[in-house]
Amino acid sequence: MSELTVIVLAAGGGTRMKSKTPKMLHQIAGRSLVGHVLAAVSEAGASRVVAVVGHQRELVEPHIAEILPEAVIAVQSEQLGTAHAVRVAVEAGAVSSGTVLVTYGDTPLLRGESLRALVADHEAAGRAATILSGIVPEPFGYGRILRGETGVSGIVEEKDATDEERAITEINSGIIAFDGAFLAGVLPRIGNDNAKKEFYLTDAIALAVADGLAVDAFVLDDVTEAEGANDRAQLAALGKILNERIVTRWMKDGVTVMDPATTWIDADVELAPDVTILPGTQLIGATRIDEDAVVGPDCTLKDTEVGHGARVVRTQAELAVVGPGANVGPFTYLRPGTVLGEEGKIGGFVEVKNSTIGPGAKVPHLSYVGDATIGEGTNIGAGTIFANYDGVTKHKTRIGRHVKSGSGVTFVAPVVVGDGATTGGEALIREDVPPGALAVSAGQQRNIEGWALAKRAGTPQAAAAEEALEAGVPILGEPSATGE
Ligand code: UD1
Ligand code: CA
Repeated sequence: MSELTVIVLAAGGGTRMKSKTPKMLHQIAGRSLVGHVLAAVSEAGASRVVAVVGHQRELVEPHIAEILPEAVIAVQSEQLGTAHAVRVAVEAGAVSSGTVLVTYGDTPLLRGESLRALVADHEAAGRAATILSGIVPEPFGYGRILRGETGVSGIVEEKDATDEERAITEINSGIIAFDGAFLAGVLPRIGNDNAKKEFYLTDAIALAVADGLAVDAFVLDDVTEAEGANDRAQLAALGKILNERIVTRWMKDGVTVMDPATTWIDADVELAPDVTILPGTQLIGATRIDEDAVVGPDCTLKDTEVGHGARVVRTQAELAVVGPGANVGPFTYLRPGTVLGEEGKIGGFVEVKNSTIGPGAKVPHLSYVGDATIGEGTNIGAGTIFANYDGVTKHKTRIGRHVKSGSGVTFVAPVVVGDGATTGGEALIREDVPPGALAVSAGQQRNIEGWALAKRAGTPQAAAAEEALEAGVPILGEPSATGE
């Protein structure tokens, strides 16, 4: 392969998106449209990338620079057509040799291997230009490939085509591989005498033919791969196709996906073999799931790590780590900085933020844990609150190893509970608890007899109390049989 320069045209407006965000920056599968293109371009082995920006370039340019810092940025301040855009790129990138591949910035389904195949075919034949084409049932809007007796003779745009030409179903994907020297020479020869008064890159094909140079089209089996997203409906449609592709790839790599239609996996997610994903699950960003873990149903995990054999059910998590063999859910909210140790548990209706829960430690029911460390083997009782905020500052709570906390405890940070300590039910823990101590803070229970009759006279509550007292119903002893 000779040196490959890829030009990415990303100066257009994308008005049909009706968005303050530039079209190229809209996301599917966790990457922007142009991010997907740049990934494919890198896969295709580009030695140089020139991105043409214009419309909203104050947003597009830094985005491209972040993804691919080595990309040359060319500014096209007025969008005068694809040939004009390429000319701006050629001048900025000083491109005049090797192969130059022109691509668009809004085609997220494009595969690196397709670009590679196009370039290989183009170079093997030594042509001036090779068009990536395809046959489509609805060619409306596309440039049509004109074929004469001696092969491809040109491309005609929709608006300039005759009725006969409009019937042609072979279309220009827009992606064209050029010989660099030919491209540099032909660009100044392209005019804008056409229906749109634009400088059409596609005119380069007929000019090459007129010069007696070789051109051809490389027909892609499924040219929808080169489709752009022009509005939100197309964005969703391409997102669905891309997701199907990603989910299928993981299934081929040994992941069980019970319901591919309701499973959404971003491009950068990593899954190990024998992971199981249950319906209604979204895996976002840099999420990583290790072998034998089961995630779902109904989980949204963003930038989260799930360890070997862990189980995560109906959970919303971001920047969290779930240790091997650990259990999370159902109805659980793991906020950034949550780290759950091996075989630990964060149970139903529990919210955790910026806290480390040690190996084998459990927060099983209805609790809030914030800015805490909880040691190995500790059990936090139902309905426990870590009061980490005094209204001004956040404070930390440190709970030692093998601590038993009763239910309904409030830990008022900053506070430290030593290893092996116990806290009584409903305790309000404001002061440190030494190792092995039992901390109680709730006062002794007092029963004020007859209170309901005195203070709630005339209510069903008072009536029930009165009836029970008259009948001499015992308040202690065996509860009535419930069958349990
Ligand atoms: C173009 C092709 C057409 C092809 C179709 C495939 C030309 C003349 N026509 O038509 O044959 O079937 O793509 O989608 O090339 N752009 C710039 N600067 C400009 C103009 C465009 O950067 O001055 C960029 C746009 O951002 C876009 C791409 O080039 O990513 C294509 O431009 P667009 O105007 O959409 O071309 P089409 O009319 O779709
Ligand atoms: Ca277009």
